[in-house]
Amino acid sequence: MTAPLELTTQSLAQLGATAADVPRLFAELRAEFDRAAAGVTDEAGLEALRIAWLGRKSGILNAVADNWLKPAPTDLKRVVGPALNELRAHAESFLKERRYGAAAAEAAVKHEHLDLSLPGVQRALGSRHILRQTFDEIERIFLSLGFSVVAGPEIETPYYNFEALNIPEHHPARDTMDTLYLEMPKGVPGELLLRTHTSPMQIHTMERQQPPVRIIVPGKVYRRDNPDSTHSYMFHQVEGLAVDTDITFCDFKGTMEYFLREFFGPKIRTRLQPSYFPFTEPSADVYGSCFLCDGAGCRVCKFSGWIELLGAGMVDPAVYGFVNYDAKQLSGFAFGIGVDRMAILKYGINDIQLFFQNDVRFLQQFQ
Ligand code: FA5
Repeated sequence: MTAPLELTTQSLAQLGATAADVPRLFAELRAEFDRAAAGVTDEAGLEALRIAWLGRKSGILNAVADNWLKPAPTDLKRVVGPALNELRAHAESFLKERRYGAAAAEAAVKHEHLDLSLPGVQRALGSRHILRQTFDEIERIFLSLGFSVVAGPEIETPYYNFEALNIPEHHPARDTMDTLYLEMPKGVPGELLLRTHTSPMQIHTMERQQPPVRIIVPGKVYRRDNPDSTHSYMFHQVEGLAVDTDITFCDFKGTMEYFLREFFGPKIRTRLQPSYFPFTEPSADVYGSCFLCDGAGCRVCKFSGWIELLGAGMVDPAVYGFVNYDAKQLSGFAFGIGVDRMAILKYGINDIQLFFQNDVRFLQQFQ
């Protein structure tokens, strides 16, 4: 037993100690406890430490209580009592903390299995979404034909989405684009809507630049369409516009056929079907033969053998009036490609909804 501990076997009177000596005596005891406790980390060592210091029968602090506290006169008790309580609390909290650490460490060692033959953690790498790849391919083809790429806003005014495209209010053509209007803040005049097609960028572009114009506009569009295998309420288009002094219907048809052959390969069969858009005259819907049934008819092509890929036509001269272009001097064509449908057809995807569900098992097929 080291020096300070020997003192605990005698009373303070026997030691000749007064109240003034009490703090020093307890400081020496505390230092002794800290020395004994240092380096004790395992459960068995901690239990031995507890018995030695806090044990009911032979614990050192019990001896302090018996020899220093009990026989002391009342005024000395008032100093010894709190000092003893403080030392006990110090010992108890040390043991509690160390025990918690020891238990955690033992549990960790127990559960730690280091198997160097196991494969490492694989981090999934992101890749370009199949629709982004489709955009890239469409842009590559038109860039090679001398078109440039421009971007436009997804929130539009009815003027750009409809009126300047020769679709006046109450025109039945608006019904096919049942529109999503935005709630305007109180006191703000006018109307805003989510664009239903990329065609408004035809107007923005012609307002900003003089002919010749050769642009494509990739982007998102929104309609109140019911979702099915080829329809979504948010989908993607690439608008195209070419305006110059000598553009003919042959240029239009040739450009469309060249684009579709480049995109799908030589096997694709294409069909132009007369259509109607207020901003083109004549107008056409361009169809591709169905990838799934090769034209025989199936669920995806709604048993027609064909999938509609884009709407297009020669720019209606009325549109030039909205942008101060000379309709007598100029001619041009415009088109709006359904990007999702292009991907459906090219990659044999049987449901447009797969693009938007973020299922990596689907997306990984196109890495
Ligand atoms: C238009 O949006 C016209 N702005 C296209 C146009 C541009 C015509 C320039 C003339 C000149 P349409 O509503 O047909 O047209 O849509 C164009 C293409 O978008 C369709 O051929 C189709 O491929 C695709 N599409 C239309 N609605 C949906 C939908 N709900 N989900 C997925 N794709 C759609």
